[in-house]
Formats: sequence, structure tokens, C-alpha cells
Amino acid sequence: MHKKVIRVILNSVGMLQDARGEAAIENLAAVIGECRKCPLWENTHHAVPGDGNPGADLMLIGEAPGKQEDLTGRPFVGRAGKLLEGLLSGIGLSRDDVFIANIVKHRPPGNRDPRDEEIRACTPYLEEQIRIIGPKVIVMLGRHSSRYILSFLPVEFDRITEIRGTVYPGVLFDHPVRLIPTLHPAAALYNPRYREALEEDFRIIGRELAAAGDSTRQD
Ligand code: URA
Repeated sequence: MHKKVIRVILNSVGMLQDARGEAAIENLAAVIGECRKCPLWENTHHAVPGDGNPGADLMLIGEAPGKQEDLTGRPFVGRAGKLLEGLLSGIGLSRDDVFIANIVKHRPPGNRDPRDEEIRACTPYLEEQIRIIGPKVIVMLGRHSSRYILSFLPVEFDRITEIRGTVYPGVLFDHPVRLIPTLHPAAALYNPRYREALEEDFRIIGRELAAAGDSTRQD
């Protein structure tokens, strides 16, 4: 077949897959918005399902929504989010290139750590998001998401500082993926050494994405 025809067919298949992924992510967000599987929703304004590019090669997973996220329904819009946007821009990406989600989708009261039973109730949503998006690289921001995602390999750790920046190749839900734990951006807001560590880890993330043949990069 003529090369141009093959390209048109492949583009059409790609567009169809993107549209399907977008619809699936939106449907799931609506389900999350109605979720009552744990009591966290009771004190919140909005669920924060996650947002970004449903066809992203890079997915970032934080811990739980904070105050600003609860008010807006979007992940990482507070100060830690600004720092995260700066780190992404350092490797040539914006929020629209990636998908950002959290381990739990409703804000825990007073920003306390999510409890095991809340994580258990909520993570099927995250797993479904990973299945739909099929990212090539997953970055876990902080120890909660690192512990959860690395348990699939399984990899255990005591301190996130011991494993940050390590690239773990794995298979999640039948998709080959590179898993990279790093620090939570909130930890770096007041600690320049953590910020340097995050910048170093994001350089590794940029290299892994390039090696994986990132198709969503805009530069
Ligand atoms: N911290 C997180 O872990 N997630 C957010 O969405 C915001 C802050």
C-alpha cells in the first residue's frame, strides 16, 4: 500500500483511540464525582479525579487533593502544583502534555495522610486510569504513591530518599512501563536540597521519556 495511505489510516486509528480514551477518562471522572465508597467525600467541595492528556506518555501520581484542589476539582493547582509545573517545563512539557492524578480522589480532612482503607477503596479508580491511558512512564510523587505503585513489582522501601530517581522497568495491567519514584513537590517548597533532588530526578524522567519515544512532547 502507498506510504501516504498507510499514514492516513494510522492517523485515523490514533485519533479514534484518543477520542475513546478521552471519553473513558471523562466517564470515569463522573463516576468518581459520585463515589461514596469511603467517608472522605463528606467534608469536600469537589472530587479531584485527575486531569491532562488521556493519551499521555507520562503520568504523574500524587497523594491526595489539598485545599485548592478541593475548591477547584483539579490536581496540583496550589503551591506544590506551581513547583511541579516548573519541573515539567524544565523538561519541555506542560500540564496539557501529561496526565496528573492522585492516589485518593477526595481531600482528607486537614490534609492528613490517607488511611489504608481509603487507599484501598480509591485505588481501583487510579488503576482504571492507568489502564485507559497506558503511559510509558509513571512518576510517583512522594512515598504514598511510590509505595502503592511499587507494590505491584514488588519493591519495598523504608525511605523515599533511598529510592528516588531510580528507574524500575515493569509491566502494569499488561502494559510495559518505566516507574520512577521521586519526592513530593510539597516537601521541596521549603527545602532547597529536596528541590535540587527533584530537578535531578526530572532530568532522569526527561531522558526516560525521550528513550521511550514520547509522542506527546510539544517542542
Ligand atoms: N498534593 C498532592 O499530592 N496532590 C495534589 O493534587 C495536590 C497536592
